[in-house]
Amino acid sequence: MALHCIILAAGLGTRMKSRRPKVLHRIAGRPMLAYVLEAATELGVERPLVVIGHGAAEVEAEIGPGVEYVHQEEQLGTGHAVLQARERLERLSGDLLVLYGDTPLLRAETLAEFVRFHERERADASVLTAILPDPTGYGRIVREPETGAVLRIVEEKDASPVEKTYREINTGIYCFALPALLPALDRLRPLNAQGEYYLTDAIALIREAGGKVAALAAGNPEEVQGVNSREQLAAVEAAVRREKNRELMAAGVTIMDPSSTFVDAGVEVGRDTVLLPFTWLEGKTRIGEGCTVGPQARLRDCELGDRVSVQFSVLDQAQVGEDVSIGPFAYLRPGAKVEAGAKVGDFVEIKNSRVGAGSKVPHHSYIGDAEIGRGVNIGAGTITCNYDGERKHRTVIEDRCFIGANANLVAPVRVGEGAYVASGSTITADVPPGALGVARGRQRNVEDWVARRRRGPAMRVEATDGGSQNEEE
Ligand code: UD1
Ligand code: CA
Repeated sequence: MALHCIILAAGLGTRMKSRRPKVLHRIAGRPMLAYVLEAATELGVERPLVVIGHGAAEVEAEIGPGVEYVHQEEQLGTGHAVLQARERLERLSGDLLVLYGDTPLLRAETLAEFVRFHERERADASVLTAILPDPTGYGRIVREPETGAVLRIVEEKDASPVEKTYREINTGIYCFALPALLPALDRLRPLNAQGEYYLTDAIALIREAGGKVAALAAGNPEEVQGVNSREQLAAVEAAVRREKNRELMAAGVTIMDPSSTFVDAGVEVGRDTVLLPFTWLEGKTRIGEGCTVGPQARLRDCELGDRVSVQFSVLDQAQVGEDVSIGPFAYLRPGAKVEAGAKVGDFVEIKNSRVGAGSKVPHHSYIGDAEIGRGVNIGAGTITCNYDGERKHRTVIEDRCFIGANANLVAPVRVGEGAYVASGSTITADVPPGALGVARGRQRNVEDWVARRRRGPAMRVEATDGGSQNEEE
């Protein structure tokens, strides 16, 4: 029978105290709602309905076009949210799986088991429950004492003191036969502590109308926990990160200290790579085999080949070939491309530039909008002056060049193949292949200057002159 799915994601998330819609709060780098959608998609649901309201435009922009959006202008409760899709639901047949957008740990296998249970029971309404040591905040399952049949769900705020002691809670995951659900939705009334149309009331209504209600207790209660507060967000974040680290270790990655290693859900790491403490791997970062990353490295949307070493460095949208060494204290910005066997050393910043195979930028440099060929050596303190105050220009350094320490390369400029640039030069014109470019003051030594200065004030004059007599070569 056809299985449809609706995900409720319109709520304000009051307890988060946030300007951001709750379902967009990130867990291991991805919005909470993306996890729920992924579980639904893995289950085989095509184009789930997603009810949005609070921050609808933001949610749509982040989640994209793969789903069908339903708008809930006023957030009058979870039952009201499903009602907004009434017209669409009328045209469907079969079962409807209802999920809340704030239960990101939910796994597709658990959903599949729940749906099988619903089908086996031939129920009109099934609810996934969990037994929690501390059920505070959740809706409680009220069962008939003798038969154990589910009577209704009571929200914490409406529960009697006795009901509050019940430890079986509503996870907010339901499966409904559509013909039973629609009339029940129409009969929801906001007669409760929060003045809302509760979807939970549909359970009692379906039962009263003669329908069959079934409940399945989740094997792993941790998986169905909802995120209502920042504290719960942090708890879920920790659980997701723990699981990601476990997966990586099982696949052959060494993580010296999992508790200080933060790997986003979408990151891939090759085997025999070692992650050292205080390492952040974010976004779509992909790391090859046999690398050492950390301590203290932050990589966002980066690609690293095999056997790369990165320590105490920040890499943002950088591409790094195999056998490269980065850091300590390097900063690779978007568009940095470091090819095989190259070295980027301490206090080096690279932006929108290629560093060719085997080239070295070992210390204290800024390389921006540059094309550096193969086998090039860039001396300490070299700067590409890429910005003229209005526009950015490119610097080209061809294969096997040697750039002396503390050179300024004023772009646009080209240093031809195999050329040398004398240290301390400010290069403003192209250097032909094989040439030496020198652009600096010629040195003059004033003999005996120190001793003469000590002897009397008359000498001061010459000292000052000496300084200004330096001439450009
Ligand atoms: C809900 C359940 C509670 C259950 C818990 C499980 C109800 C009435 N209560 O409580 O029994 O134990 O989840 O986590 O259903 N939403 C809308 N529109 C609205 C209101 C909410 O789309 O008008 C969405 C929210 O964005 C959220 C989900 O529905 O994703 C659940 O809403 P929330 O306010 O978090 O419900 P809880 O109080 O957690
Ligand atoms: Ca919730």
